Amino acid sequence: MSTPEKLNYYADTLNRAVREDLLFALDHTDGDKVAIDCGCGAGADIAYLRAQGFTVHAFDIEQDSIQLCRERFEGDEHVYLTCASFSEFDYPNASLLVADSSLFFCPAAEFDKVWGRITQSLSEGGIFCGSFLGPQDSMAGPDYDKQAFWPDVLVFDEAELKAIFACYEILSFNEHKVSKKFEGGSETQWHIYSVVARKNR
Ligand SMILES: C[S@@+](CC[C@H](N)C(=O)[O-])C[C@H]1O[C@@H](n2cnc3c(N)ncnc32)[C@H](O)[C@@H]1O
Repeated sequence: MSTPEKLNYYADTLNRAVREDLLFALDHTDGDKVAIDCGCGAGADIAYLRAQGFTVHAFDIEQDSIQLCRERFEGDEHVYLTCASFSEFDYPNASLLVADSSLFFCPAAEFDKVWGRITQSLSEGGIFCGSFLGPQDSMAGPDYDKQAFWPDVLVFDEAELKAIFACYEILSFNEHKVSKKFEGGSETQWHIYSVVARKNR
C-alpha cells in the first residue's frame, strides 16, 4: 500500500536523469527491441526506453505506480503495464531487462525463483541492467523505515552477487559507496552495486 513517502518518491523520480548504466546497456543490446522494467516506479526508464524505440513490459507491486504510469503512457500501444510482484509477473521474452533500485525489495525467500525467471525471460545474448543493495547501505540497518517504504530488504555482498551471474558475461560492475551528512547530524550511507551483464549465448 502506498504511503506519503512512496508517493513523494514517485513525484521526485518522475523525470529523473537516466542512469549511466542504462545508456551503457543500450549500447550492448541487439535483436528485437523488447524490454522489461521490473519495479518501474514513476516510469522514468519506461519513458527513456520508449524514446529509444523499445516496446516495454513494465510492472510494479504498487497500484499507485501502475496508475501513474497508465496516465503517463496513455494511448501508447507499446507500453504494457501490470500491477504484480517480482514473483507474480509473467515475464515475456526480452532482449533487455531493467531492474533499477527495485530488486532491493524482493523477499529473500523468493529471489532464487525470481532470478531464474529473469534469466529465462532474456533471449540468448540479452542484457540485464540493474542494481543491488550492499551490506553497508543504511537501508540494510536498523534505521530503515519499513513502515514508510518497502519492507523486504535484500542484501548481497560482492561475491554473492557475482555468483548469481554465473551464466552471464559481466560487462560492467560498479560499487557505489557514498555517505551524506544532513543538518542535525544524521548520516545516510549508500552502498549499491550496479551491474550490466549479457546472458550467455
Ligand atoms: C526505489 S523504487 C525504484 C523505481 C524505479 N525503478 C526507478 O529507478 O525510478 C523501487 C520500486 O520497486 C517496487 N517494488 C518493491 N517491492 C516490489 C516487489 N516485491 N515486486 C515488484 N516491485 C516491487 C516499488 O513499488 C518501487 O516502485
